[in-house]
Amino acid sequence: MTGPIILVVGARPNFMKIAPLYSELKRRGVEQILLHTGQHYDDNMSKVFFDDLGMPKPDIYLGIGSGSHAYQTATVMIEFEKICMELNPSLVVVVGDVNSTVACSIVCAKLTISCAHVEAGLRSFDRGMPEEINRILTDSVADLLLTPSPDGDENLLAEGVAKERIKRVGNVMIDSLYSNLERAKESNILSDLDVKKRYAVLTLHRPSNVDDKEIFTGILGALENIGQQIQLVFPIHPRTEKNAKEFGIYQRLKAIPNIILTGPLGYLDFVALMASSTLVLTDSGGLQEETTALGIPCITLRENTERPITVTEGTNTVVGCDPLLIESTAFNALEGNGKVGKVPEMWDGNAAKRIVDVILEHIANGD
Ligand code: UD1
Repeated sequence: MTGPIILVVGARPNFMKIAPLYSELKRRGVEQILLHTGQHYDDNMSKVFFDDLGMPKPDIYLGIGSGSHAYQTATVMIEFEKICMELNPSLVVVVGDVNSTVACSIVCAKLTISCAHVEAGLRSFDRGMPEEINRILTDSVADLLLTPSPDGDENLLAEGVAKERIKRVGNVMIDSLYSNLERAKESNILSDLDVKKRYAVLTLHRPSNVDDKEIFTGILGALENIGQQIQLVFPIHPRTEKNAKEFGIYQRLKAIPNIILTGPLGYLDFVALMASSTLVLTDSGGLQEETTALGIPCITLRENTERPITVTEGTNTVVGCDPLLIESTAFNALEGNGKVGKVPEMWDGNAAKRIVDVILEHIANGD
C-alpha cells in the first residue's frame, strides 16, 4: 500500500455508512483519511452524527456547502482532485448516491486511483431523481462495486458490468444500526418531545415531494387525516421547512392534528424514536432499510424504490404521493395489518468486515 485510504462523506446519509468502515480500518491499523466535502454543514445535519457515531473530526474538510447540482458536484471535484494529487491514496471509498459520491468517483477515474463504491447497483429506474444519475455514473466509473443485496448485482450485470468488479457485501448502514441500538435506548428524546405511547414517525425531503407545491399540499391533506388517528412526529429537513414557508403552507403543517414538529435529530435520538414507533412514513432511502431491519411497517411516499428488497422481503410498502392511497395504507397499518417482513441476508452487522476484506485484497493485488 502506498498512500492512505480516503473515506469520503458529504451528506447526512453518508455518515452512518462510513462510521463502521472507519472503525474496522482503525481496528486493523490501516492508514486512513476521513474527508468531509461539507455538502451538509449545519451541526444538526453533520457534526451531531460524528459525535453520536464515535467518529473523530474529519481530517480534511472541503467546506463546499449548498448550491445547484452542478455547483456542488464541480466544486467537490476541483477540491478533491487537489487532495488526491497531494496524498496519492491507494484507494478511495465513496458511499451512497449523493452529489459528493459521484464527484469523488469521477476524480478517481480520471486520476486512475482505485475507487470502491459502497451501496452499488441500486436503481430506481427513475432518471428524474438526481440520486439515480449519481448512482449510474458512480457505478460506471468506480473499480469495486460493493452491493448490499442481490438486486444490486443483477442491475449491474444487466448494464454489462464485468462480474469481477461486483462483490456482494451486505448493508453497512445496518452495522451502525445494530451497534448503536442499545446506546440509542438511553436517549431522552421520547420524553423530551413528550410523545404518546403510539406514534408514527414522518420524514419528507425528496425534491419530487417537497419542491412541488401541489404534491406537497396533497401529502399535507393526507397527513391531516392520519393525524386524527395517531400522533405524528416530524423531524423536518431544512429543504422541507424552507419550501413549506415559501409555499405558504408552513402554518397549515404546524396545525396538523397531533403533530410534533421538531428540527433534524441526531443519529441516536432518531434511532430511538424510530425503534419505538408504530409506523414510519417517509420518502428517505435509508429509512426503508432501517425499518425493515427493525421490523417496523414503513410507508414510502415515492413512486418507486431503488431498494426493492425492502418491499419483497421487508416491511416496506411503496405508495407514491396519492393522498388517498397514503391514508388508506396508513389506516390499514394502524389497524395492525402493516407488513411483517424478514431481515435480508447479509444485513447482519458484519458488512464493514467484509468490505474491508475486499478493499484490502484489491489493494494487495495492485488492481
Ligand atoms: C441531499 C442528497 C440526498 C439525500 C439528502 C439527505 C444529493 C443530490 N441529495 O439532499 O440524496 O437524501 O441530502 O438529507 O446529493 N441545508 C441546510 N443545512 C445543511 C444542508 C442543507 O440548511 O447542512 C439546506 C439548504 O438550504 C439546501 C437544502 O437544505 O439548499 C438542500 O440541501 P442539499 O444538500 O442541496 O440537498 P438535500 O435535499 O439535503
